[in-house]
Amino acid sequence: MKSIKGMILGFCFAAMFVSCGNSQAKSSAGESNAVVENIMSRRSIRKYSAKPVEREILNSIMECGINAPNAINRQAWEVRVIDNPDMVNKFLTALKQDNTQAQPTAVEGSFRSAPVLVIVANDTTFRFSPIDCGLLCENIMLSAWSYGVGSVCLGSPVDFIENSPQAMQMLGFSENYKPIICIGMGYPDESPAAKPRDMSKVKFID
Ligand SMILES: Cc1cc2nc3c(=O)[nH]c(=O)nc-3n(C[C@H](O)[C@H](O)[C@H](O)COP(=O)(O)O)c2cc1C
Repeated sequence: MKSIKGMILGFCFAAMFVSCGNSQAKSSAGESNAVVENIMSRRSIRKYSAKPVEREILNSIMECGINAPNAINRQAWEVRVIDNPDMVNKFLTALKQDNTQAQPTAVEGSFRSAPVLVIVANDTTFRFSPIDCGLLCENIMLSAWSYGVGSVCLGSPVDFIENSPQAMQMLGFSENYKPIICIGMGYPDESPAAKPRDMSKVKFID
């Protein structure tokens, strides 16, 4: 039993090292680079296969999340992961019950039918906390992608969550913490093309 646990832990550490470790290897621009390829190939995924995301992988993804840079290492974030289908249903039902002003399909649809829901809350008393949360989310989404797990950042469910006493109770965030962003995750059932980016937003000051 111990050796199986050891193997699983070993796998997780190895996977974390590959996906977010501090390898000494550097490559020049133009050379093949796994990190750049991972960043450039990630797209928001809004259609998911039925395959559940393994807990070991989710744990590694969350470890990558909390290893994001953050102001004075205060780690001013709280993260909740809902991967159990019954719990996802319970959560969505609570949201629909408490958001009667909205169409139930709009509430449920805001999560894009993702099988794994991640809800991130920020410390409202700390000005850099929203930035910390954004960086945490990007680490989560990029490490997820390195495992072939698709994701989408979701702002639209946040108001529904805040409006729902039942959902807020389930999430149990600490005092002064408020939901700021969600992430839907799961194995992809689509491969969307990249949306255009505007490189003119970046200027070198020579
Ligand atoms: C703060 C934030 C909020 C977002 N909210 C939503 C959302 O509510 N629903 C959704 O489908 N996508 C949402 N997205 C995903 C963006 O639409 C997506 O990242 C953008 O169009 C670029 O596409 P790409 O991620 O495939 O490169 C959000 C992204 C961010 C960063």
